[in-house]
Amino acid sequence: MIVAGMDIGSITTETVILRDHAILSSVILPTGANSRKAAERSLSAALEKAGLNPEEVTAIVTTGYGRASFPRATKMITEITCHARGAFFVHPQTRTVIDIGGQDSKVIRLDNQGRNVDFQMNDKCAAGTGRFLEVMAHALEVRVEDLGRLSLGAPRTIKISSMCTVFAESEVVSLIAEDQPKEVIIRGLHDSIADRILGMVNRVGIEEKVTLTGGVAKNEGVVRALEERLGVTLYIPPEPQIIGALGAALMARTLLPLPEGKRI
Ligand SMILES: Nc1ncnc2c1ncn2[C@@H]1O[C@H](COP(=O)(O)OP(=O)(O)OP(=O)(O)O)[C@@H](O)[C@H]1O
Ligand SMILES: [Mg+2]
Repeated sequence: MIVAGMDIGSITTETVILRDHAILSSVILPTGANSRKAAERSLSAALEKAGLNPEEVTAIVTTGYGRASFPRATKMITEITCHARGAFFVHPQTRTVIDIGGQDSKVIRLDNQGRNVDFQMNDKCAAGTGRFLEVMAHALEVRVEDLGRLSLGAPRTIKISSMCTVFAESEVVSLIAEDQPKEVIIRGLHDSIADRILGMVNRVGIEEKVTLTGGVAKNEGVVRALEERLGVTLYIPPEPQIIGALGAALMARTLLPLPEGKRI
């Protein structure tokens, strides 16, 4: 049985194609301004990578904030469920999932079957998300991919007092003007993200093992700041950004296959 899962996020769109429990291909592409086109592009790229024809796919589940923008999907499922399933699949000891994406972050508690039993979500503002880091990287004239490495070399941190992205950006600009080293400012920014996440973790309660998903899991500075606050070692999947799409594909496996004439 060949199925696809697609996570149409605010920054990136991922597709994972599964044959039974094996990943045949995965792709990560920017979503851009048109999430429908991004979804089409992402699915085509994943099919090509796997050497498959579209009609070989028996079910597609979409998730993510843009999940409704692919009308040919067999089913839409929430990100909470898909991140929970994906994280539990790659690391079955997972009982807490922290997903830090582009426009929201969430903390999900799982039971020992991988089902989500509780969650907290920050989707009201960009603080504590990947977008926040992108804005700050731009102000600091560094690449978002380099933030983690730079902050790990910082000899100290600095308090970023503004919670709001717009005010935090002006605060960063002032700190640059005061000649504060960039790596110190970046460490301060990672600490502020970790403080936000800690607030959500405290509301849901933490149970080990804790898996970190989403693009921000690739930022080793945020990983360190979180581990310091939570007092646990985080499990980072080999490709943390595809976990939502993987979970969606796993959910697609549970659906009845569409009859051949009805496939994409
Ligand atoms: N190589 C990298 N190193 C560090 N950070 C990265 C890297 N790649 C992506 N990111 C971070 O990940 C963020 C995007 O994460 P992700 O792709 O999970 O978001 P999304 O799923 O589109 O968003 P959402 O789930 O909120 O709709 C970027 O804003 C950036 O901060
Ligand atoms: Mg996401």
